[in-house]
Amino acid sequence: MSTLEIRDLHVSVLDAADDRPEILRGVDLTVAAGQTHAIMGPNGSGKSTLAYAIAGHPKYLVTQGSITLDGQDVLAMSVDARARAGLFLAMQYPVEVPGVSVSNFLRTAVTAVRGEAPKLRLFLKEMNEAMAALSIDPAFAQRNLNEGFSGGEKKRHEILQLELLAPKIAVLDETDSGLDIDALKVVSEGINRYRAQPGHGVLLITHYTRILRYVTPDFVPVLARGRIVKSGGRELALQLEAEGYGPVLQEAGYDVDETDGFSGAATGEEAAPAAAPAGR
Ligand SMILES: Nc1ncnc2c1ncn2[C@@H]1O[C@H](COP(=O)(O)OP(=O)(O)OP(=O)(O)O)[C@@H](O)[C@H]1O
Ligand SMILES: [Mg+2]
Repeated sequence: MSTLEIRDLHVSVLDAADDRPEILRGVDLTVAAGQTHAIMGPNGSGKSTLAYAIAGHPKYLVTQGSITLDGQDVLAMSVDARARAGLFLAMQYPVEVPGVSVSNFLRTAVTAVRGEAPKLRLFLKEMNEAMAALSIDPAFAQRNLNEGFSGGEKKRHEILQLELLAPKIAVLDETDSGLDIDALKVVSEGINRYRAQPGHGVLLITHYTRILRYVTPDFVPVLARGRIVKSGGRELALQLEAEGYGPVLQEAGYDVDETDGFSGAATGEEAAPAAAPAGR
């Protein structure tokens, strides 16, 4: 059984001014196969930063702590080694790649992850079946990668990758954003098909409990100002939906601004200047 273990993770971001503010300030999280964790948290709390750090994005510098997958040091791995090891990251803002078709990209990715090129005919069959399951138009396979993809197309494409690459642990950032009701169901069903297979774990990053109606989480960690301030089960997501982040943040000792529910100001050691991502 696979386990992704994140221990005392501190991450700074290489920003445009070369300031390197610390965004994650000691995150602990364990995602085991068979589990679904739904990370929630206010805008700017560091959710995408966590996803990027797991994926090995060069702008996100791990300054302390560890990430391991089945005991192997993920931080020592190149980005593609992470993918081969069984990690999958679907990004909030995927990059457009003109000149590379979806079909080409998928076959290259599958080849890299499986260690050998699938036979073209078999691959096309597999891809077409996965596309049909996600109600994706067959013409989509010939589109340029991410170019002009609508919000819904981007998300279906993510889940298409998930189905074909079958990673051990999938990190899905805002998979529910920009989806209409039907697309949300299709995408949720895709995630559920993936996680129903043995050996698969999901780390789902989301703002809304909408998707959690279809993809029931086992754990709901709440990230605020770079730390997990509370963890609960599905009921915590429902509580957040009803009350906003205010009460949970207050409980964690943060000052809460009524206009945005979260001022970024905090008490005690939280006030250290290096730890102030607010105002960006
Ligand atoms: N490349 C960057 N340059 C400058 N600041 C950055 C960069 N990446 C992230 N940050 C800052 O780090 C903080 C956390 O950002 P992150 O994207 O991780 O938040 P998030 O929790 O995913 O927010 P959202 O819910 O809006 O997606 C923010 O203050 C953001 O502006
Ligand atoms: Mg984000």
